Amino acid sequence: HIPVITIDGPTASGKGTVAQKVAQHLGFHYLDSGALYRLTALSVMRRDIPLDDEHALAKAAEHLHCHFNGAHIFLANEDVSNDIRAEAVGNLASKIAAIPTVRQALFGLQLSFRQHPGLVADGRDMGTVIFPHAGLKVFLTASVEARAQRRYKQLIDKGFSANMEDLSKDLTERDARDSNRSSAPLKAAEGAYLLDTSAMTVDQAVAQVLGWYAA
Ligand code: CDP
Repeated sequence: HIPVITIDGPTASGKGTVAQKVAQHLGFHYLDSGALYRLTALSVMRRDIPLDDEHALAKAAEHLHCHFNGAHIFLANEDVSNDIRAEAVGNLASKIAAIPTVRQALFGLQLSFRQHPGLVADGRDMGTVIFPHAGLKVFLTASVEARAQRRYKQLIDKGFSANMEDLSKDLTERDARDSNRSSAPLKAAEGAYLLDTSAMTVDQAVAQVLGWYAA
């Protein structure tokens, strides 16, 4: 039996940071499932695949030549850790993530991250679709303001330019797209603990998740 903790939530809710720290603390593996959608988006952008060519989009996802090494993410041996964080890549990721055949193509790859001694997986459908039998499921949220603020800081830290107005608009659009799609919409899994981190520090959120896990 290999334990799995799922942490799902909307864009820029802080789930990536929290999930990584929880994984580090427990010595577990970490799956950033959003990175797989972002990698697919980057690969699609670079090859100029049109958004209406579903077959080609699914193929791009299926033949994703990626690997992870610590915090570094590679696409065909090129370190794209920073490139995939661009807002344009995130927006395209959210568009192609609505296509069921793209999601299907990434299914097996996501399951393969479940290895000894355990896994912390973050995304939109970790608890609902990919790891429905996870021992602990968390749904992490934060207000639009808090999330726009976090995304702003993240982008500036990575050397991208950003402004709060566009970011809030992006966030709201992305929330709507992720929540209203028919395939694996963003929603709390059955039995998930809800955690609103608007007024919490990362360490407080991590402590809460670890507390639930230990209980
Ligand atoms: O960083 P942010 O939360 O904005 O996004 P992300 O977690 O890197 O994921 C990028 C996009 O991929 C999201 O907007 C989702 O539409 C999609 N995604 C998904 O559909 N399912 C997942 N398990 C993870 C991400």
